[in-house]
Amino acid sequence: MSRTRPPVLVTRHLPQEALDRIAAWCDMTLYDGEGAMDRDQLLTEVAGKAGAITLLTDRVDEEFLDVAGPELKIVANYAVGFDNIDVEACTRHGVLACNTPEVLTETTADTAFALMMAAARRIAEGDRFIRSGTPWIWGPLMMLGQDVHHATLGIVGFGRIGQALARRARGFAMRVLYHDMYRPPAEVELELGAEYRELEDLLRESDFVSLHTNLTPQTRHLINADRLATMKPTAVLVNTSRGPVIDEQALVRALEQGQIFAAGLDVFEREPDVHPGLLACGNVVLIPHLGSATVKTRLAMANLAVDNLLAALEARRPPALLNPQAWEQRTPRE
Ligand code: GLV
Ligand code: GLV
Repeated sequence: MSRTRPPVLVTRHLPQEALDRIAAWCDMTLYDGEGAMDRDQLLTEVAGKAGAITLLTDRVDEEFLDVAGPELKIVANYAVGFDNIDVEACTRHGVLACNTPEVLTETTADTAFALMMAAARRIAEGDRFIRSGTPWIWGPLMMLGQDVHHATLGIVGFGRIGQALARRARGFAMRVLYHDMYRPPAEVELELGAEYRELEDLLRESDFVSLHTNLTPQTRHLINADRLATMKPTAVLVNTSRGPVIDEQALVRALEQGQIFAAGLDVFEREPDVHPGLLACGNVVLIPHLGSATVKTRLAMANLAVDNLLAALEARRPPALLNPQAWEQRTPRE
Protein backbone atom coordinates (compact mmCIF):
# COMPACT_ATOMS: atom_id res chain seq x y z
CA MET A 1 0.00 0.00 0.00
CA SER A 2 1.25 3.47 -0.79
CA ARG A 3 2.56 5.53 2.09
CA THR A 4 -0.39 7.89 2.02
CA ARG A 5 -3.27 6.43 3.93
CA PRO A 6 -6.22 5.97 1.57
CA PRO A 7 -9.42 7.67 2.76
CA VAL A 8 -12.24 5.20 3.30
CA LEU A 9 -15.84 5.42 4.45
CA VAL A 10 -17.46 2.84 6.72
CA THR A 11 -21.20 3.48 6.85
CA ARG A 12 -21.98 1.79 10.19
CA HIS A 13 -20.24 0.47 13.28
CA LEU A 14 -18.79 -3.00 12.59
CA PRO A 15 -17.18 -5.42 15.06
CA GLN A 16 -14.20 -3.54 16.54
CA GLU A 17 -11.57 -6.02 15.38
CA ALA A 18 -12.48 -5.27 11.77
CA LEU A 19 -12.49 -1.50 12.34
CA ASP A 20 -9.03 -1.74 13.88
CA ARG A 21 -7.72 -3.48 10.77
CA ILE A 22 -9.04 -0.65 8.61
CA ALA A 23 -7.75 2.08 10.89
CA ALA A 24 -4.25 0.53 10.82
CA TRP A 25 -3.97 1.19 7.06
CA CYS A 26 -6.50 3.81 6.14
CA ASP A 27 -7.79 7.21 7.03
CA MET A 28 -11.19 5.94 8.17
CA THR A 29 -14.39 7.95 8.31
CA LEU A 30 -16.80 5.92 10.43
CA TYR A 31 -20.46 6.83 10.55
CA ASP A 32 -21.36 6.34 14.15
CA GLY A 33 -25.10 7.04 14.11
CA GLU A 34 -27.82 4.71 15.29
CA GLY A 35 -29.58 4.09 11.99
CA ALA A 36 -28.53 4.05 8.35
CA MET A 37 -26.76 7.10 6.94
CA ASP A 38 -29.27 9.32 5.22
CA ARG A 39 -28.75 9.76 1.52
CA ASP A 40 -27.34 13.29 1.66
CA GLN A 41 -24.86 12.36 4.36
CA LEU A 42 -23.81 9.27 2.43
CA LEU A 43 -23.17 11.28 -0.73
CA THR A 44 -21.32 14.00 1.15
CA GLU A 45 -19.08 11.53 2.96
CA VAL A 46 -18.25 9.29 0.02
CA ALA A 47 -16.93 12.17 -2.11
CA GLY A 48 -13.20 11.71 -2.70
CA LYS A 49 -12.96 8.35 -0.90
CA ALA A 50 -10.79 5.50 -2.22
CA GLY A 51 -13.01 2.81 -0.73
CA ALA A 52 -16.28 2.28 1.10
CA ILE A 53 -17.77 -0.45 3.22
CA THR A 54 -21.51 -0.25 2.59
CA LEU A 55 -24.55 -1.95 4.06
CA LEU A 56 -27.70 -3.26 2.42
CA THR A 57 -29.39 -0.03 3.51
CA ASP A 58 -26.98 2.08 1.37
CA ARG A 59 -27.86 2.48 -2.31
CA VAL A 60 -24.81 2.40 -4.57
CA ASP A 61 -25.91 3.71 -7.97
CA GLU A 62 -24.75 6.08 -10.74
CA GLU A 63 -25.31 9.10 -8.50
CA PHE A 64 -23.25 7.60 -5.67
CA LEU A 65 -20.43 6.68 -8.05
CA ASP A 66 -20.46 10.10 -9.76
CA VAL A 67 -20.33 11.91 -6.45
CA ALA A 68 -17.61 9.61 -5.10
CA GLY A 69 -15.39 10.54 -8.02
CA PRO A 70 -12.51 8.84 -9.84
CA GLU A 71 -10.53 7.98 -6.70
CA LEU A 72 -13.08 5.35 -5.67
CA LYS A 73 -11.61 1.88 -6.21
CA ILE A 74 -13.90 -0.37 -4.22
CA VAL A 75 -17.34 -0.73 -2.70
CA ALA A 76 -17.25 -3.63 -0.22
CA ASN A 77 -20.81 -4.54 0.73
CA TYR A 78 -21.27 -5.98 4.21
CA ALA A 79 -23.83 -8.57 3.04
CA VAL A 80 -24.07 -11.48 0.64
CA GLY A 81 -27.06 -9.89 -1.11
CA PHE A 82 -26.16 -6.96 -3.36
CA ASP A 83 -29.46 -5.71 -4.74
CA ASN A 84 -28.53 -2.32 -3.21
CA ILE A 85 -25.58 -2.11 -5.61
CA ASP A 86 -25.76 -1.37 -9.31
CA VAL A 87 -22.89 -3.70 -10.19
CA GLU A 88 -22.92 -2.75 -13.88
CA ALA A 89 -22.61 0.93 -12.98
CA CYS A 90 -19.65 0.04 -10.74
CA THR A 91 -18.03 -1.75 -13.68
CA ARG A 92 -18.59 1.29 -15.94
CA HIS A 93 -16.91 3.46 -13.31
CA GLY A 94 -14.04 0.98 -12.89
CA VAL A 95 -15.07 0.38 -9.27
CA LEU A 96 -14.67 -3.11 -7.80
CA ALA A 97 -17.87 -4.35 -6.15
CA CYS A 98 -17.63 -7.03 -3.45
CA ASN A 99 -19.94 -8.93 -1.10
CA THR A 100 -19.57 -11.38 1.81
CA PRO A 101 -20.59 -14.84 0.56
CA GLU A 102 -19.94 -18.20 2.23
CA VAL A 103 -19.12 -16.92 5.73
CA LEU A 104 -22.86 -16.50 6.46
CA THR A 105 -24.23 -19.53 4.62
CA GLU A 106 -24.65 -21.90 7.58
CA THR A 107 -25.90 -19.22 9.96
CA THR A 108 -28.55 -18.04 7.50
CA ALA A 109 -29.66 -21.62 6.85
CA ASP A 110 -30.03 -22.01 10.64
CA THR A 111 -32.27 -18.94 10.69
CA ALA A 112 -34.46 -20.34 7.91
CA PHE A 113 -34.77 -23.64 9.77
CA ALA A 114 -35.59 -21.82 13.01
CA LEU A 115 -38.39 -19.92 11.23
CA MET A 116 -39.73 -23.16 9.74
CA MET A 117 -39.85 -24.75 13.17
CA ALA A 118 -41.23 -21.68 14.93
CA ALA A 119 -44.00 -21.10 12.39
CA ALA A 120 -44.99 -24.77 12.08
CA ARG A 121 -44.99 -25.41 15.82
CA ARG A 122 -46.44 -22.02 16.82
CA ILE A 123 -43.48 -21.20 19.07
CA ALA A 124 -43.76 -17.40 18.99
CA GLU A 125 -47.54 -17.57 19.31
CA GLY A 126 -47.19 -19.88 22.33
CA ASP A 127 -44.70 -17.51 23.92
CA ARG A 128 -47.07 -14.56 23.41
CA PHE A 129 -49.92 -16.63 24.81
CA ILE A 130 -48.04 -17.51 28.01
CA ARG A 131 -46.98 -13.91 28.51
CA SER A 132 -50.56 -12.70 28.04
CA GLY A 133 -51.41 -14.35 31.37
CA THR A 134 -54.40 -16.18 29.85
CA PRO A 135 -55.32 -19.13 32.11
CA TRP A 136 -54.59 -22.47 30.42
CA ILE A 137 -54.23 -26.13 31.03
CA TRP A 138 -52.75 -28.82 28.77
CA GLY A 139 -55.26 -29.81 26.15
CA PRO A 140 -55.39 -32.48 23.44
CA LEU A 141 -56.44 -29.92 20.84
CA MET A 142 -54.51 -26.95 22.09
CA MET A 143 -52.43 -24.96 19.61
CA LEU A 144 -51.80 -27.78 17.19
CA GLY A 145 -49.20 -27.21 14.52
CA GLN A 146 -47.71 -29.06 11.55
CA ASP A 147 -44.95 -31.66 11.62
CA VAL A 148 -41.56 -30.66 10.28
CA HIS A 149 -40.00 -34.13 10.27
CA HIS A 150 -40.87 -36.29 7.25
CA ALA A 151 -42.54 -33.32 5.55
CA THR A 152 -41.71 -32.08 2.04
CA LEU A 153 -39.50 -28.99 1.87
CA GLY A 154 -39.44 -26.91 -1.30
CA ILE A 155 -36.36 -24.71 -1.62
CA VAL A 156 -36.63 -21.82 -4.08
CA GLY A 157 -33.13 -20.63 -5.02
CA PHE A 158 -30.67 -23.48 -4.70
CA GLY A 159 -27.40 -21.63 -4.13
CA ARG A 160 -25.15 -22.02 -1.11
CA ILE A 161 -27.78 -21.13 1.49
CA GLY A 162 -30.54 -23.16 -0.14
CA GLN A 163 -28.23 -26.17 -0.29
CA ALA A 164 -27.20 -25.72 3.35
CA LEU A 165 -30.91 -25.80 4.25
CA ALA A 166 -31.29 -29.04 2.27
CA ARG A 167 -28.51 -30.58 4.38
CA ARG A 168 -30.38 -29.70 7.57
CA ALA A 169 -33.61 -31.11 6.18
CA ARG A 170 -32.02 -34.53 5.72
CA GLY A 171 -31.53 -34.75 9.49
CA PHE A 172 -35.30 -34.32 9.84
CA ALA A 173 -36.00 -37.02 7.25
CA MET A 174 -37.62 -34.45 5.00
CA ARG A 175 -38.15 -34.89 1.29
CA VAL A 176 -36.40 -32.04 -0.49
CA LEU A 177 -37.53 -30.37 -3.74
CA TYR A 178 -35.84 -27.35 -5.26
CA HIS A 179 -36.31 -24.80 -7.97
CA ASP A 180 -33.62 -22.60 -9.48
CA MET A 181 -32.77 -21.08 -12.84
CA TYR A 182 -29.53 -23.05 -12.73
CA ARG A 183 -29.48 -26.79 -12.24
CA PRO A 184 -26.57 -27.90 -10.05
CA PRO A 185 -24.49 -30.89 -11.20
CA ALA A 186 -26.20 -34.26 -10.76
CA GLU A 187 -23.74 -35.15 -7.95
CA VAL A 188 -25.06 -32.23 -5.89
CA GLU A 189 -28.68 -33.35 -6.38
CA LEU A 190 -27.67 -36.83 -5.40
CA GLU A 191 -25.63 -35.82 -2.35
CA LEU A 192 -28.43 -33.62 -1.04
CA GLY A 193 -31.22 -35.96 -2.11
CA ALA A 194 -32.93 -32.99 -3.77
CA GLU A 195 -35.26 -33.22 -6.75
CA TYR A 196 -35.78 -30.42 -9.27
CA ARG A 197 -39.32 -29.09 -9.80
CA GLU A 198 -40.88 -26.33 -11.84
CA LEU A 199 -41.91 -23.58 -9.43
CA GLU A 200 -45.66 -24.27 -9.63
CA ASP A 201 -45.12 -27.98 -9.00
CA LEU A 202 -42.83 -27.26 -6.06
CA LEU A 203 -45.43 -24.94 -4.52
CA ARG A 204 -48.19 -27.48 -5.00
CA GLU A 205 -46.24 -30.38 -3.48
CA SER A 206 -44.41 -28.73 -0.57
CA ASP A 207 -45.35 -28.57 3.10
CA PHE A 208 -42.64 -25.96 3.64
CA VAL A 209 -41.42 -23.43 1.09
CA SER A 210 -38.22 -21.52 1.87
CA LEU A 211 -36.96 -18.66 -0.33
CA HIS A 212 -33.23 -18.26 -1.07
CA THR A 213 -33.07 -16.27 -4.29
CA ASN A 214 -31.32 -13.00 -4.96
CA LEU A 215 -33.63 -10.03 -5.45
CA THR A 216 -33.67 -9.20 -9.17
CA PRO A 217 -36.37 -7.90 -11.52
CA GLN A 218 -37.16 -11.58 -12.24
CA THR A 219 -37.65 -12.54 -8.58
CA ARG A 220 -39.59 -9.43 -7.44
CA HIS A 221 -43.05 -10.70 -6.34
CA LEU A 222 -42.08 -14.22 -7.40
CA ILE A 223 -44.49 -15.35 -4.68
CA ASN A 224 -47.70 -13.57 -5.68
CA ALA A 225 -51.42 -14.20 -5.07
CA ASP A 226 -51.70 -16.83 -7.81
CA ARG A 227 -48.72 -18.77 -6.53
CA LEU A 228 -49.85 -18.56 -2.90
CA ALA A 229 -53.17 -19.99 -4.05
CA THR A 230 -51.40 -23.10 -5.37
CA MET A 231 -49.85 -23.86 -1.96
CA LYS A 232 -51.36 -26.34 0.49
CA PRO A 233 -53.62 -24.96 3.27
CA THR A 234 -51.24 -26.72 5.70
CA ALA A 235 -48.10 -25.18 4.17
CA VAL A 236 -45.58 -22.86 5.81
CA LEU A 237 -43.75 -20.15 3.82
CA VAL A 238 -40.36 -18.90 5.03
CA ASN A 239 -38.37 -15.94 3.69
CA THR A 240 -34.80 -15.10 4.71
CA SER A 241 -33.83 -13.69 1.29
CA ARG A 242 -35.26 -10.26 0.43
CA GLY A 243 -38.72 -8.94 1.29
CA PRO A 244 -39.86 -7.95 -2.21
CA VAL A 245 -39.57 -11.57 -3.40
CA ILE A 246 -43.03 -11.92 -1.79
CA ASP A 247 -46.04 -9.74 -2.61
CA GLU A 248 -46.67 -8.86 1.03
CA GLN A 249 -50.24 -7.70 0.49
CA ALA A 250 -51.06 -11.03 -1.17
CA LEU A 251 -49.38 -12.91 1.69
CA VAL A 252 -51.47 -11.05 4.27
CA ARG A 253 -54.60 -12.11 2.41
CA ALA A 254 -53.43 -15.72 2.16
CA LEU A 255 -52.69 -15.84 5.90
CA GLU A 256 -55.98 -14.19 6.85
CA GLN A 257 -57.98 -16.52 4.65
CA GLY A 258 -56.18 -19.67 5.76
CA GLN A 259 -54.88 -20.29 2.24
CA ILE A 260 -51.62 -21.33 3.91
CA PHE A 261 -51.04 -22.37 7.50
CA ALA A 262 -48.32 -19.94 8.56
CA ALA A 263 -45.28 -17.93 7.53
CA GLY A 264 -41.90 -17.05 9.00
CA LEU A 265 -40.38 -13.80 7.79
CA ASP A 266 -36.92 -12.35 8.39
CA VAL A 267 -37.24 -9.73 5.63
CA PHE A 268 -39.96 -7.32 4.52
CA GLU A 269 -41.05 -5.60 1.37
CA ARG A 270 -40.54 -2.07 2.70
CA GLU A 271 -37.98 -2.63 5.46
CA PRO A 272 -37.94 -1.53 8.20
CA ASP A 273 -41.71 -1.01 7.82
CA VAL A 274 -43.79 -4.13 8.35
CA HIS A 275 -47.21 -4.46 6.71
CA PRO A 276 -49.84 -3.79 9.42
CA GLY A 277 -51.75 -6.84 8.18
CA LEU A 278 -48.79 -9.03 9.13
CA LEU A 279 -48.64 -7.50 12.59
CA ALA A 280 -52.29 -8.44 13.05
CA CYS A 281 -51.83 -12.09 11.98
CA GLY A 282 -51.19 -14.63 14.75
CA ASN A 283 -49.86 -17.20 12.29
CA VAL A 284 -46.76 -15.38 11.13
CA VAL A 285 -43.42 -15.25 12.94
CA LEU A 286 -41.63 -11.93 12.38
CA ILE A 287 -37.95 -11.25 13.07
CA PRO A 288 -35.98 -8.11 12.13
CA HIS A 289 -33.59 -9.25 9.36
CA LEU A 290 -31.45 -11.43 11.63
CA GLY A 291 -30.47 -14.04 9.04
CA SER A 292 -26.71 -13.73 9.59
CA ALA A 293 -26.90 -12.16 13.05
CA THR A 294 -24.57 -14.20 15.25
CA VAL A 295 -21.46 -12.92 16.99
CA LYS A 296 -19.14 -15.20 15.00
CA THR A 297 -20.75 -14.68 11.63
CA ARG A 298 -20.98 -10.90 11.85
CA LEU A 299 -17.26 -10.82 12.71
CA ALA A 300 -16.45 -13.14 9.81
CA MET A 301 -18.48 -10.93 7.45
CA ALA A 302 -16.68 -7.83 8.72
CA ASN A 303 -13.30 -9.44 8.25
CA LEU A 304 -14.20 -10.53 4.72
CA ALA A 305 -15.44 -7.03 3.87
CA VAL A 306 -12.13 -5.65 5.19
CA ASP A 307 -10.16 -8.28 3.22
CA ASN A 308 -11.99 -7.10 0.10
CA LEU A 309 -11.36 -3.45 0.91
CA LEU A 310 -7.67 -3.73 1.73
CA ALA A 311 -6.95 -6.01 -1.23
CA ALA A 312 -8.43 -3.51 -3.66
CA LEU A 313 -6.56 -0.61 -2.07
CA GLU A 314 -3.31 -2.57 -2.44
CA ALA A 315 -4.16 -3.41 -6.08
CA ARG A 316 -4.68 -7.08 -5.26
CA ARG A 317 -7.76 -8.93 -6.49
CA PRO A 318 -10.36 -8.97 -3.69
CA PRO A 319 -11.46 -12.44 -2.55
CA ALA A 320 -15.20 -11.88 -3.12
CA LEU A 321 -15.38 -9.85 -6.29
CA LEU A 322 -18.75 -9.43 -8.05
CA ASN A 323 -17.46 -7.75 -11.22
CA PRO A 324 -14.26 -9.39 -12.48
CA GLN A 325 -14.62 -7.21 -15.60
CA ALA A 326 -13.80 -4.15 -13.50
CA TRP A 327 -10.67 -5.90 -12.25
CA GLU A 328 -9.58 -6.87 -15.75
CA GLN A 329 -10.10 -3.29 -16.94
CA ARG A 330 -8.03 -1.74 -14.21
CA THR A 331 -5.03 -4.07 -13.73
CA PRO A 332 -3.05 -2.90 -16.78
CA ARG A 333 -3.12 0.63 -15.37
CA GLU A 334 -1.91 -0.29 -11.86
C1 GLV B 1 -28.17 -10.00 4.45
O1 GLV B 1 -29.32 -9.85 4.24
C2 GLV B 1 -27.19 -10.29 3.49
O2 GLV B 1 -27.47 -10.23 2.29
O3 GLV B 1 -26.06 -10.59 3.90
C1 GLV C 1 -26.83 -16.65 -1.89
O1 GLV C 1 -26.97 -15.56 -2.07
C2 GLV C 1 -25.99 -17.72 -1.53
O2 GLV C 1 -25.04 -17.54 -0.76
O3 GLV C 1 -26.36 -18.78 -2.01
